[in-house]
Amino acid sequence: MANIFTRTATGAMDWVNARAPALMPMYRKHMTEYYAPKNFNIWYIFGVLSMVVLVNQIVTGIFLTMHYKPSAAEAFASVEYIMRDVEWGWLIRYMHSTGASIFFIVVYLHMFRGLMYGSYQKPRELVWILGMLIYLVLMAEAFMGYVLPWGQMSFWGAKVIISLFGAVPVIGQGLTEWIMGDYLPSDATLGRFFALHVIALPLVLLLLVVLHLGALHEVGSNNPDGVEIKKGPKGNRWSPTAPADGIPFHPYYTVKDTFYVFAMLIIASFVIFFAPAFGGWFLEHDNFTEANRLVTPEHIKPVWYYTPFYAMLRVVPDKLGGVLVMFGAIIVLFFLPWLDRAKVKSYRYRGWLSWVLLLAFAFTFVWLGKIGAGPGTDPVETVIGRFLTAYYFLFFLTMPLWTKLDKTRPVPERVTTHD
Ligand code: HEM
Repeated sequence: MANIFTRTATGAMDWVNARAPALMPMYRKHMTEYYAPKNFNIWYIFGVLSMVVLVNQIVTGIFLTMHYKPSAAEAFASVEYIMRDVEWGWLIRYMHSTGASIFFIVVYLHMFRGLMYGSYQKPRELVWILGMLIYLVLMAEAFMGYVLPWGQMSFWGAKVIISLFGAVPVIGQGLTEWIMGDYLPSDATLGRFFALHVIALPLVLLLLVVLHLGALHEVGSNNPDGVEIKKGPKGNRWSPTAPADGIPFHPYYTVKDTFYVFAMLIIASFVIFFAPAFGGWFLEHDNFTEANRLVTPEHIKPVWYYTPFYAMLRVVPDKLGGVLVMFGAIIVLFFLPWLDRAKVKSYRYRGWLSWVLLLAFAFTFVWLGKIGAGPGTDPVETVIGRFLTAYYFLFFLTMPLWTKLDKTRPVPERVTTHD
Protein backbone atom coordinates (compact mmCIF):
# COMPACT_ATOMS: atom_id res chain seq x y z
CA MET A 1 0.00 0.00 0.00
CA ALA A 2 2.61 2.44 1.14
CA ASN A 3 4.43 1.76 -2.06
CA ILE A 4 1.48 2.78 -4.19
CA PHE A 5 1.08 5.98 -2.22
CA THR A 6 4.78 6.81 -2.36
CA ARG A 7 4.94 6.06 -6.08
CA THR A 8 1.81 8.14 -6.77
CA ALA A 9 3.07 11.06 -4.67
CA THR A 10 6.53 10.98 -6.30
CA GLY A 11 4.91 10.68 -9.71
CA ALA A 12 2.66 13.68 -9.03
CA MET A 13 5.64 15.72 -7.77
CA ASP A 14 7.71 14.85 -10.85
CA TRP A 15 4.77 15.83 -13.03
CA VAL A 16 4.46 19.24 -11.35
CA ASN A 17 8.25 19.79 -11.32
CA ALA A 18 8.51 19.11 -15.03
CA ARG A 19 5.89 21.79 -15.68
CA ALA A 20 6.84 24.33 -12.99
CA PRO A 21 10.57 23.85 -12.41
CA ALA A 22 10.86 27.07 -10.35
CA LEU A 23 8.70 25.72 -7.49
CA MET A 24 11.13 23.29 -5.83
CA PRO A 25 14.07 25.73 -5.76
CA MET A 26 11.74 28.29 -4.16
CA TYR A 27 10.59 25.78 -1.55
CA ARG A 28 14.22 24.91 -0.76
CA LYS A 29 15.30 28.56 -0.58
CA HIS A 30 12.61 29.44 1.96
CA MET A 31 12.22 26.17 3.88
CA THR A 32 14.76 23.33 3.81
CA GLU A 33 17.72 25.49 2.79
CA TYR A 34 16.81 28.60 4.74
CA TYR A 35 19.42 28.45 7.47
CA ALA A 36 18.08 30.20 10.54
CA PRO A 37 20.30 30.86 13.58
CA LYS A 38 20.23 27.89 15.95
CA ASN A 39 19.73 30.05 19.05
CA PHE A 40 16.18 31.31 18.43
CA ASN A 41 14.22 31.62 21.68
CA ILE A 42 10.51 31.98 22.42
CA TRP A 43 10.50 35.58 21.15
CA TYR A 44 10.99 34.20 17.65
CA ILE A 45 7.62 32.43 17.45
CA PHE A 46 5.44 35.50 17.05
CA GLY A 47 6.06 36.04 13.33
CA VAL A 48 4.71 32.58 12.53
CA LEU A 49 1.87 33.02 15.04
CA SER A 50 0.92 36.28 13.27
CA MET A 51 0.73 34.35 10.01
CA VAL A 52 -1.53 31.71 11.57
CA VAL A 53 -3.86 34.39 12.96
CA LEU A 54 -3.91 36.13 9.56
CA VAL A 55 -5.06 32.87 7.94
CA ASN A 56 -7.71 32.44 10.69
CA GLN A 57 -9.01 35.96 10.03
CA ILE A 58 -9.26 35.36 6.30
CA VAL A 59 -10.96 31.95 6.58
CA THR A 60 -13.47 32.92 9.28
CA GLY A 61 -14.02 36.25 7.50
CA ILE A 62 -15.02 34.44 4.31
CA PHE A 63 -17.68 32.48 6.22
CA LEU A 64 -18.98 35.62 7.97
CA THR A 65 -19.29 37.37 4.60
CA MET A 66 -21.67 34.61 3.45
CA HIS A 67 -24.32 35.80 5.93
CA TYR A 68 -23.44 39.40 6.78
CA LYS A 69 -25.42 42.24 5.16
CA PRO A 70 -23.41 45.45 4.55
CA SER A 71 -26.22 47.96 4.98
CA ALA A 72 -27.06 50.26 7.87
CA ALA A 73 -30.60 48.83 7.96
CA GLU A 74 -29.56 45.17 8.12
CA ALA A 75 -25.97 44.88 9.41
CA PHE A 76 -26.72 44.59 13.15
CA ALA A 77 -29.56 42.10 12.62
CA SER A 78 -27.44 40.01 10.24
CA VAL A 79 -24.74 39.67 12.92
CA GLU A 80 -27.41 38.61 15.44
CA TYR A 81 -28.65 36.11 12.84
CA ILE A 82 -25.12 34.73 12.49
CA MET A 83 -24.89 34.41 16.28
CA ARG A 84 -28.27 32.71 16.80
CA ASP A 85 -29.41 30.97 13.63
CA VAL A 86 -26.45 30.15 11.42
CA GLU A 87 -25.02 26.71 12.26
CA TRP A 88 -21.77 27.32 14.19
CA GLY A 89 -22.14 31.00 13.32
CA TRP A 90 -21.38 32.05 16.91
CA LEU A 91 -18.10 30.10 16.78
CA ILE A 92 -17.04 31.62 13.48
CA ARG A 93 -17.83 35.12 14.72
CA TYR A 94 -16.02 34.69 18.04
CA MET A 95 -13.02 33.14 16.28
CA HIS A 96 -12.90 36.27 14.12
CA SER A 97 -13.41 38.81 16.91
CA THR A 98 -11.02 37.06 19.33
CA GLY A 99 -8.57 36.61 16.44
CA ALA A 100 -8.43 40.39 15.98
CA SER A 101 -7.24 40.95 19.55
CA ILE A 102 -4.84 38.00 19.45
CA PHE A 103 -3.44 39.41 16.20
CA PHE A 104 -2.46 42.61 17.99
CA ILE A 105 -1.11 40.74 21.03
CA VAL A 106 1.24 38.65 18.89
CA VAL A 107 2.18 41.59 16.64
CA TYR A 108 3.03 43.80 19.64
CA LEU A 109 5.19 41.02 21.12
CA HIS A 110 6.78 40.52 17.67
CA MET A 111 7.63 44.23 17.48
CA PHE A 112 8.97 44.30 21.04
CA ARG A 113 11.28 41.40 20.15
CA GLY A 114 12.55 43.58 17.30
CA LEU A 115 13.31 46.34 19.81
CA MET A 116 15.09 44.01 22.25
CA TYR A 117 17.36 42.38 19.71
CA GLY A 118 17.89 45.37 17.39
CA SER A 119 16.31 43.42 14.52
CA TYR A 120 15.61 46.68 12.66
CA GLN A 121 19.31 47.56 12.42
CA LYS A 122 21.37 47.17 9.25
CA PRO A 123 20.84 45.07 7.08
CA ARG A 124 17.17 44.58 8.13
CA GLU A 125 15.86 48.15 7.81
CA LEU A 126 13.57 47.17 4.94
CA VAL A 127 12.15 44.22 6.92
CA TRP A 128 11.28 46.70 9.68
CA ILE A 129 9.75 49.30 7.32
CA LEU A 130 7.60 46.63 5.66
CA GLY A 131 6.59 45.47 9.15
CA MET A 132 5.55 49.02 10.04
CA LEU A 133 3.48 49.25 6.86
CA ILE A 134 1.82 45.97 7.88
CA TYR A 135 1.09 47.49 11.30
CA LEU A 136 -0.52 50.59 9.73
CA VAL A 137 -2.68 48.54 7.37
CA LEU A 138 -3.60 46.19 10.22
CA MET A 139 -4.84 49.14 12.29
CA ALA A 140 -6.98 50.38 9.39
CA GLU A 141 -8.25 46.86 8.76
CA ALA A 142 -9.30 46.33 12.39
CA PHE A 143 -10.90 49.77 12.60
CA MET A 144 -13.08 49.16 9.55
CA GLY A 145 -13.94 45.66 10.75
CA TYR A 146 -15.17 47.06 14.05
CA VAL A 147 -17.60 49.37 12.24
CA LEU A 148 -19.27 46.50 10.36
CA PRO A 149 -21.52 45.05 13.16
CA TRP A 150 -23.12 48.52 13.34
CA GLY A 151 -23.35 48.56 17.13
CA GLN A 152 -23.18 51.73 19.22
CA MET A 153 -19.37 51.64 19.45
CA SER A 154 -19.06 50.91 15.74
CA PHE A 155 -21.02 54.04 14.95
CA TRP A 156 -19.62 56.41 17.57
CA GLY A 157 -16.07 55.09 17.28
CA ALA A 158 -16.23 55.68 13.52
CA LYS A 159 -17.66 59.15 14.06
CA VAL A 160 -14.93 60.19 16.54
CA ILE A 161 -12.04 58.76 14.53
CA ILE A 162 -13.17 59.95 11.10
CA SER A 163 -13.96 63.40 12.52
CA LEU A 164 -10.27 63.67 13.48
CA PHE A 165 -9.58 64.40 9.83
CA GLY A 166 -11.63 67.56 10.38
CA ALA A 167 -8.59 68.94 12.23
CA VAL A 168 -6.65 69.17 8.94
CA PRO A 169 -6.51 72.89 8.02
CA VAL A 170 -8.64 74.12 5.09
CA ILE A 171 -9.71 70.74 3.64
CA GLY A 172 -10.59 69.08 6.98
CA GLN A 173 -14.37 69.26 6.77
CA GLY A 174 -14.45 68.17 3.12
CA LEU A 175 -12.06 65.32 3.86
CA THR A 176 -14.29 64.01 6.68
CA GLU A 177 -17.36 64.05 4.45
CA TRP A 178 -15.44 62.43 1.62
CA ILE A 179 -14.35 59.54 3.89
CA MET A 180 -17.84 59.03 5.35
CA GLY A 181 -19.72 59.72 2.12
CA ASP A 182 -22.19 61.59 4.35
CA TYR A 183 -22.29 63.97 7.32
CA LEU A 184 -22.38 61.09 9.79
CA PRO A 185 -21.34 57.43 9.54
CA SER A 186 -24.07 55.93 7.37
CA ASP A 187 -24.98 53.34 4.79
CA ALA A 188 -22.41 54.81 2.39
CA THR A 189 -19.66 54.54 5.05
CA LEU A 190 -20.60 50.96 5.85
CA GLY A 191 -20.53 49.95 2.18
CA ARG A 192 -17.06 51.32 1.51
CA PHE A 193 -15.66 50.02 4.82
CA PHE A 194 -17.03 46.58 3.95
CA ALA A 195 -15.33 46.60 0.54
CA LEU A 196 -12.03 47.76 2.04
CA HIS A 197 -12.22 45.36 5.00
CA VAL A 198 -13.07 42.18 3.13
CA ILE A 199 -11.01 42.54 -0.02
CA ALA A 200 -8.77 45.59 -0.52
CA LEU A 201 -6.86 45.69 2.75
CA PRO A 202 -6.51 41.88 3.16
CA LEU A 203 -4.92 41.81 -0.31
CA VAL A 204 -2.52 44.59 0.65
CA LEU A 205 -1.75 42.79 3.94
CA LEU A 206 -0.98 39.53 2.17
CA LEU A 207 1.26 41.28 -0.33
CA LEU A 208 3.11 43.11 2.44
CA VAL A 209 3.62 39.89 4.42
CA VAL A 210 5.12 38.21 1.33
CA LEU A 211 7.45 41.20 0.81
CA HIS A 212 8.29 41.26 4.56
CA LEU A 213 9.40 37.63 4.49
CA GLY A 214 11.07 38.00 1.10
CA ALA A 215 13.13 40.91 2.45
CA LEU A 216 13.99 38.93 5.60
CA HIS A 217 15.09 35.86 3.66
CA GLU A 218 17.42 37.93 1.46
CA VAL A 219 19.46 39.09 4.45
CA GLY A 220 18.73 36.23 6.87
CA SER A 221 17.28 36.30 10.38
CA ASN A 222 18.76 38.13 13.32
CA ASN A 223 18.86 36.29 16.69
CA PRO A 224 18.91 36.98 20.45
CA ASP A 225 22.70 37.57 20.35
CA GLY A 226 22.48 39.97 17.42
CA VAL A 227 25.43 38.12 15.78
CA GLU A 228 25.36 37.87 11.97
CA ILE A 229 25.68 34.14 11.32
CA LYS A 230 26.38 34.80 7.65
CA LYS A 231 29.60 36.57 8.62
CA GLY A 232 30.74 33.66 10.83
CA PRO A 233 32.36 30.33 9.87
CA LYS A 234 30.85 28.28 7.06
CA GLY A 235 29.80 24.65 6.82
CA ASN A 236 27.25 22.60 8.77
CA ARG A 237 25.89 19.02 8.54
CA TRP A 238 23.63 19.97 5.65
CA SER A 239 25.80 22.16 3.48
CA PRO A 240 29.50 23.10 3.27
CA THR A 241 28.66 26.67 2.27
CA ALA A 242 25.83 27.40 4.75
CA PRO A 243 26.55 29.34 7.98
CA ALA A 244 27.94 26.98 10.64
CA ASP A 245 25.48 28.37 13.21
CA GLY A 246 22.42 27.97 10.97
CA ILE A 247 19.93 25.09 10.94
CA PRO A 248 17.33 24.37 8.22
CA PHE A 249 14.06 26.18 8.90
CA HIS A 250 12.26 23.01 7.88
CA PRO A 251 12.01 20.65 9.74
CA TYR A 252 13.67 22.21 12.82
CA TYR A 253 11.73 25.42 13.25
CA THR A 254 8.52 24.18 11.61
CA VAL A 255 8.30 21.53 14.36
CA LYS A 256 9.09 24.02 17.12
CA ASP A 257 6.62 26.57 15.73
CA THR A 258 3.87 23.93 15.43
CA PHE A 259 4.14 23.30 19.16
CA TYR A 260 3.60 26.99 19.91
CA VAL A 261 0.79 27.26 17.36
CA PHE A 262 -1.08 24.60 19.36
CA ALA A 263 -0.31 26.40 22.61
CA MET A 264 -1.79 29.58 21.13
CA LEU A 265 -4.85 27.70 19.85
CA ILE A 266 -5.48 26.26 23.33
CA ILE A 267 -5.29 29.71 24.94
CA ALA A 268 -7.49 31.17 22.17
CA SER A 269 -10.05 28.38 22.69
CA PHE A 270 -10.41 29.31 26.36
CA VAL A 271 -11.20 32.89 25.37
CA ILE A 272 -13.52 31.92 22.51
CA PHE A 273 -15.53 29.40 24.56
CA PHE A 274 -15.53 31.00 28.01
CA ALA A 275 -14.92 34.75 27.68
CA PRO A 276 -15.34 35.95 24.08
CA ALA A 277 -16.04 39.56 25.08
CA PHE A 278 -13.10 39.32 27.55
CA GLY A 279 -14.69 41.62 30.07
CA GLY A 280 -15.44 44.22 27.41
CA TRP A 281 -11.80 44.38 26.19
CA PHE A 282 -12.22 42.29 23.02
CA LEU A 283 -15.88 43.15 22.33
CA GLU A 284 -17.17 46.25 24.06
CA HIS A 285 -20.46 46.02 25.94
CA ASP A 286 -21.92 48.99 24.07
CA ASN A 287 -21.49 47.19 20.80
CA PHE A 288 -24.20 44.68 21.70
CA THR A 289 -26.72 47.53 21.21
CA GLU A 290 -27.63 48.66 17.70
CA ALA A 291 -26.17 51.95 16.41
CA ASN A 292 -28.35 54.92 17.25
CA ARG A 293 -27.36 58.38 16.08
CA LEU A 294 -29.56 60.01 18.74
CA VAL A 295 -27.99 58.28 21.76
CA THR A 296 -24.31 58.79 22.59
CA PRO A 297 -22.67 56.04 24.70
CA GLU A 298 -21.39 57.19 28.09
CA HIS A 299 -17.71 56.63 27.22
CA ILE A 300 -16.62 56.43 23.62
CA LYS A 301 -13.33 54.57 23.47
CA PRO A 302 -11.60 52.39 20.92
CA VAL A 303 -10.63 48.74 21.38
CA TRP A 304 -7.59 48.15 23.64
CA TYR A 305 -5.00 47.95 20.87
CA TYR A 306 -5.54 51.59 19.92
CA THR A 307 -5.85 52.99 23.44
CA PRO A 308 -2.19 54.08 23.94
CA PHE A 309 -2.50 56.31 20.87
CA TYR A 310 -6.01 57.40 21.81
CA ALA A 311 -4.71 58.49 25.21
CA MET A 312 -2.11 60.69 23.48
CA LEU A 313 -4.85 62.25 21.36
CA ARG A 314 -6.93 63.04 24.43
CA VAL A 315 -4.26 64.46 26.72
CA VAL A 316 -3.14 67.07 24.18
CA PRO A 317 -5.47 70.06 24.67
CA ASP A 318 -5.46 71.17 21.01
CA LYS A 319 -7.33 69.02 18.44
CA LEU A 320 -4.86 69.38 15.57
CA GLY A 321 -1.97 69.00 18.04
CA GLY A 322 -3.50 65.80 19.41
CA VAL A 323 -3.95 64.35 15.93
CA LEU A 324 -0.36 65.19 15.00
CA VAL A 325 0.97 63.67 18.23
CA MET A 326 -1.10 60.52 17.74
CA PHE A 327 0.03 59.94 14.14
CA GLY A 328 3.55 61.10 15.01
CA ALA A 329 3.76 58.36 17.66
CA ILE A 330 3.37 55.77 14.90
CA ILE A 331 5.45 57.56 12.25
CA VAL A 332 8.45 57.88 14.60
CA LEU A 333 8.69 54.07 14.72
CA PHE A 334 9.52 54.01 10.99
CA PHE A 335 12.76 55.86 11.75
CA LEU A 336 13.94 53.50 14.45
CA PRO A 337 16.73 51.94 12.32
CA TRP A 338 18.34 55.39 11.99
CA LEU A 339 17.68 56.60 15.52
CA ASP A 340 19.49 53.71 17.16
CA ARG A 341 23.25 54.37 16.97
CA ALA A 342 24.37 51.53 19.26
CA LYS A 343 27.32 49.48 18.10
CA VAL A 344 25.67 46.24 19.20
CA LYS A 345 22.27 45.00 18.08
CA SER A 346 20.98 42.93 20.96
CA TYR A 347 20.10 44.34 24.38
CA ARG A 348 21.92 41.32 25.81
CA TYR A 349 25.15 43.24 25.23
CA ARG A 350 23.90 46.72 25.98
CA GLY A 351 24.35 48.50 29.30
CA TRP A 352 21.91 49.19 32.12
CA LEU A 353 20.92 52.59 30.66
CA SER A 354 19.41 51.02 27.54
CA TRP A 355 17.61 48.39 29.62
CA VAL A 356 16.10 50.89 32.03
CA LEU A 357 14.93 53.16 29.20
CA LEU A 358 13.47 50.27 27.18
CA LEU A 359 11.57 48.80 30.13
CA ALA A 360 10.30 52.28 31.04
CA PHE A 361 9.13 52.61 27.42
CA ALA A 362 7.17 49.33 27.59
CA PHE A 363 5.67 50.43 30.90
CA THR A 364 4.75 53.85 29.42
CA PHE A 365 2.99 52.21 26.47
CA VAL A 366 0.91 49.95 28.73
CA TRP A 367 0.04 52.78 31.12
CA LEU A 368 -1.01 55.03 28.23
CA GLY A 369 -3.16 52.12 27.07
CA LYS A 370 -4.85 52.04 30.45
CA ILE A 371 -5.45 55.79 30.44
CA GLY A 372 -6.86 55.62 26.89
CA ALA A 373 -9.29 52.89 27.93
CA GLY A 374 -10.62 54.98 30.85
CA PRO A 375 -13.25 57.73 30.73
CA GLY A 376 -10.64 60.49 30.44
CA THR A 377 -12.30 62.65 33.06
CA ASP A 378 -9.65 62.50 35.81
CA PRO A 379 -7.42 65.63 35.61
CA VAL A 380 -4.55 63.90 37.47
CA GLU A 381 -4.59 61.10 34.93
CA THR A 382 -4.50 63.67 32.12
CA VAL A 383 -1.32 65.20 33.58
CA ILE A 384 0.23 61.74 33.98
CA GLY A 385 -0.77 61.02 30.38
CA ARG A 386 1.08 64.15 29.23
CA PHE A 387 4.27 63.07 31.00
CA LEU A 388 3.99 59.58 29.54
CA THR A 389 3.42 60.99 26.03
CA ALA A 390 6.49 63.19 26.47
CA TYR A 391 8.52 60.15 27.57
CA TYR A 392 7.29 58.13 24.56
CA PHE A 393 8.67 60.76 22.18
CA LEU A 394 11.81 61.52 24.20
CA PHE A 395 12.68 57.81 24.19
CA PHE A 396 12.91 57.90 20.39
CA LEU A 397 14.12 61.45 19.79
CA THR A 398 17.02 61.19 22.26
CA MET A 399 17.86 57.67 21.14
CA PRO A 400 20.82 58.76 18.99
CA LEU A 401 22.35 60.18 22.19
CA TRP A 402 21.75 57.50 24.77
CA THR A 403 22.50 54.58 22.46
CA LYS A 404 25.92 56.19 21.90
CA LEU A 405 26.48 57.00 25.59
CA ASP A 406 25.52 53.57 26.89
CA LYS A 407 28.36 51.19 27.73
CA THR A 408 28.09 48.02 25.65
CA ARG A 409 29.67 44.66 26.39
CA PRO A 410 31.73 42.68 23.87
CA VAL A 411 29.56 40.58 21.54
CA PRO A 412 30.68 36.92 21.19
CA GLU A 413 32.11 35.85 17.82
CA ARG A 414 29.42 33.18 17.42
CA VAL A 415 25.89 32.72 18.72
CA THR A 416 25.45 31.33 22.23
CA THR A 417 22.96 28.64 23.17
CA HIS A 418 23.08 28.53 26.96
CA ASP A 419 19.71 30.06 27.90
C1 HEM B 1 0.80 40.31 9.81
C2 HEM B 1 1.81 40.69 10.56
C3 HEM B 1 3.19 40.10 10.49
C4 HEM B 1 3.56 38.85 10.08
C5 HEM B 1 2.68 37.71 9.56
C6 HEM B 1 5.00 38.77 10.25
C7 HEM B 1 5.76 37.66 9.97
C8 HEM B 1 7.10 37.53 10.26
C9 HEM B 1 7.82 36.28 10.26
C10 HEM B 1 7.21 34.90 9.94
C11 HEM B 1 9.10 36.54 10.60
C12 HEM B 1 10.23 35.53 10.78
C13 HEM B 1 10.07 34.83 12.12
C14 HEM B 1 10.30 35.74 13.29
O1 HEM B 1 11.34 36.41 13.33
O2 HEM B 1 9.40 35.83 14.16
C15 HEM B 1 9.22 37.98 10.81
C16 HEM B 1 10.37 38.66 11.16
C17 HEM B 1 10.45 40.01 11.43
N1 HEM B 1 9.38 40.89 11.52
FE1 HEM B 1 7.45 40.45 11.10
N2 HEM B 1 5.47 39.97 10.73
C18 HEM B 1 4.39 40.80 10.90
C19 HEM B 1 4.42 42.10 11.39
C20 HEM B 1 5.58 42.80 11.74
C21 HEM B 1 5.60 44.12 12.27
C22 HEM B 1 4.37 44.95 12.58
C23 HEM B 1 6.92 44.44 12.46
C24 HEM B 1 7.53 45.71 13.00
C25 HEM B 1 7.17 46.88 12.73
C26 HEM B 1 7.72 43.32 12.05
C27 HEM B 1 9.10 43.26 12.09
C28 HEM B 1 9.86 42.13 11.86
C29 HEM B 1 11.32 42.07 11.96
C30 HEM B 1 12.26 43.22 12.29
C31 HEM B 1 11.68 40.73 11.68
C32 HEM B 1 13.10 40.16 11.68
C33 HEM B 1 13.35 39.65 13.07
C34 HEM B 1 14.70 39.05 13.28
O3 HEM B 1 15.26 38.46 12.35
O4 HEM B 1 15.18 39.18 14.43
N3 HEM B 1 6.87 42.33 11.63
N4 HEM B 1 7.98 38.55 10.62
